[in-house]
Amino acid sequence: MKTYRIAVLPGDGTGPEVIGEGCKVLDAAAQKFGFQLEKTTYDLGAKRYLRTGETLPESVLQELSQFDAIYLGAIGDPAVKPGILERGILLPLRFRLDQYINLRPVKLYPGVQTPLRDKRPQDLDYTVIRENTGGLYTGMGGISNAGTHECVAVQNMVYNYFQVARCLRYAFDYARANGKKARGIGEENTLALVLKTNVLQYAGQLWMDAFEEIGAAYPDVRRQYYHVDATCLYMVNCPEIFDVIVTENMFGDIITDLAAATQGGLGVAAGGNINPDEGGVSMFEPIGGTAPMWTGKNAINPLAAIGAGAMMLKSLDERDAGDAIERAIAATTPKMKSQQANEMGFTTTEIGDLVAAAL
Ligand code: IPM
Ligand code: MN
Repeated sequence: MKTYRIAVLPGDGTGPEVIGEGCKVLDAAAQKFGFQLEKTTYDLGAKRYLRTGETLPESVLQELSQFDAIYLGAIGDPAVKPGILERGILLPLRFRLDQYINLRPVKLYPGVQTPLRDKRPQDLDYTVIRENTGGLYTGMGGISNAGTHECVAVQNMVYNYFQVARCLRYAFDYARANGKKARGIGEENTLALVLKTNVLQYAGQLWMDAFEEIGAAYPDVRRQYYHVDATCLYMVNCPEIFDVIVTENMFGDIITDLAAATQGGLGVAAGGNINPDEGGVSMFEPIGGTAPMWTGKNAINPLAAIGAGAMMLKSLDERDAGDAIERAIAATTPKMKSQQANEMGFTTTEIGDLVAAAL
């Protein structure tokens, strides 16, 4: 039987609760589809940091790089100064494992309330591909005269051709294989580059030139360009125009929170940090945080974590099992009162049971 080695990082806050339900559903899928998941749990997160001062020890990083995939809950705690765990654990994992794609499907499941009036599931069905290792996230820059009125700070949006080109190639391949036409629901596969070329002339030109150059090899994928601010407007007013979006790191971070709101909130939004290269290790996570106020109450929505598990199976080439989990989620959402914590009409564990049973 095929066995996959999974590193499980439940993390902090409600992370362990949602990952618990995700593992429940993954185990049900493994049984049904005839493969095995061998899980190893790691305690990275706030508790370990507060106890030992460690964020991501090099030895743990080396161990993690040996797994088939990583399944992450959420990291963060009000007791730790903002930024320490993000820059100490989550971002180094993405950078050091070279997970250069952040894949965030935006999908309105049936029965889920969206704040977008009159929008239906078929109107809200696109994917954001966010560059995941460069841009403003590289931490390059500096500050002088900090804490005085002479203070000057620089934070650089750093990209090279290689980074941009590999992200765009992934995006074109993704649009070719998973765009609306590929799924039989549209006239053409479309990849939209989202940036701000009217202001960011240097990074904008690098992205735009590479987009045109690489896109020439994909005559079956229509190319579109939108400014990021206009994109926010369209995501609310006419999300049906989107198929696959590719964008730089920080813009991708921001627009995927907006996208999550339109699909029912962070309780349903799943994502994957992908290293598509041979032997690369990818990491899957609900895109929301640790929800401290709901921790330990069995009230948080586990669907985002369950959806991240489905994405993980697809990346491991258990596509049928991943699709089946997504159908099981779609069979569960109509039974729920809401996607918000504590208002679902069910507890966290009951939602996990419902999805596992639907599967
Ligand atoms: C996300 C998060 C992270 C990011 C934070 C926690 C560093 O917001 O995964 O979207 O900015 O990428
Ligand atoms: Mn974010």
